[in-house]
Amino acid sequence: MYVLNMAINVIISAILVIQSAFMLPLETLLFRFDTAASVFESGDDMYTVIWSTSLPGTGYVTYEYEGAQYTVMDEENAAIRSTDTVHSVRIPKAHLDNNTYVYHSQQVGVRRAYVAVKGRTVSSDPVAFRGYAGQEEIHALVISDIHENPDAAAKAVASFDAAPDLVIMNGDEVSYMTSVVKFKQVLSYAHRFSGGAIPVIYTRGNHENRGEYGSAAVDIFKTTTGGMYFTCSYGPISMICLDSGEDKADSDWTYSGLVDHEAYIARETEWMRSLTPDEEAEYRIAIAHIPHLKNRYGFNWIEILAEQKLDLFVGGHKHRVNFDFNKGTAPFYQMLDGGKTRDNGYIATMLTFGGAQIRVLCYDDQHNVKGEHIYTLPVDLSPAAPPEQPAG
Ligand SMILES: [Fe+2]
Repeated sequence: MYVLNMAINVIISAILVIQSAFMLPLETLLFRFDTAASVFESGDDMYTVIWSTSLPGTGYVTYEYEGAQYTVMDEENAAIRSTDTVHSVRIPKAHLDNNTYVYHSQQVGVRRAYVAVKGRTVSSDPVAFRGYAGQEEIHALVISDIHENPDAAAKAVASFDAAPDLVIMNGDEVSYMTSVVKFKQVLSYAHRFSGGAIPVIYTRGNHENRGEYGSAAVDIFKTTTGGMYFTCSYGPISMICLDSGEDKADSDWTYSGLVDHEAYIARETEWMRSLTPDEEAEYRIAIAHIPHLKNRYGFNWIEILAEQKLDLFVGGHKHRVNFDFNKGTAPFYQMLDGGKTRDNGYIATMLTFGGAQIRVLCYDDQHNVKGEHIYTLPVDLSPAAPPEQPAG
């Protein structure tokens, strides 16, 4: 495989050198962005900007912050990554919030010990990025379970009057992760719904574990923990973003004996136990694809999240909206956000944080309201009072 890749790269490089000598536009056609950038939360005070190109090369992001010019490379262990078509650059949130960035890639055909053949550099237009800016109401768009159905999701999303301040992609955006092509699909959805201009939170769904690229896809995010789980915040909202693993045991035939979620989730659970509640936050939420928190590979996540003084858990996976999911099993609200429906339509959800409320509104792709709910804070799980009976 290595020899084959090498041969292909040598051929492409030779073609590029020849076309360059004759000033042919071939390279413009061959090397280009194939997925525009999105800005992902990747833990605490960091974002990771991720995009992709049609051929392997480098990636870097440029911006100005407090009068200084920054060029941040897609780098790993002191090497500038140049053999991948997916590029990811980690940047402090303070640098990017309400600032403008440009991302770039240069084609690299061959890289040896003392020589490299490099091609053209492509650069994006400047992207104006909108982080938290003290707004009174915060709108978070939740789009789980797209399952390769982005046009229906887009129709549902278009129903909302309010523009989102952040996008939560709550897993199963694609149905399997067999290659980088599937990961680029996830990236394309992230860009379609964020424009690269607002933060995206991506949690891994069970389907995105399935396939050889499932593990590599996690590394691209360069999260603080190394796994697809991290904490982050948006103004007054504190978020615990979790990887809930698969929906069946590791021993199930589905996984061919080639997964070890037990070890991965054990590490994640240990990390969750190390967290302390964000006392400054006005809203504390957790996000994970699979909503069955009581038993994640033998661990009770409800107890751990309760210690984090959680207000609301947002899960997906069930392909239906539910505002009272598992009510009574946890000292916090639990809801499901919708996603692809049985007839291949789609339900999108908008969370609006404001005052002592988290308001929820759901639309399907035919612009019908599919759910409305208000969660009041502090959390009150007592049964709703029965409607008043008319006198007499
Ligand atoms: Fe799922």
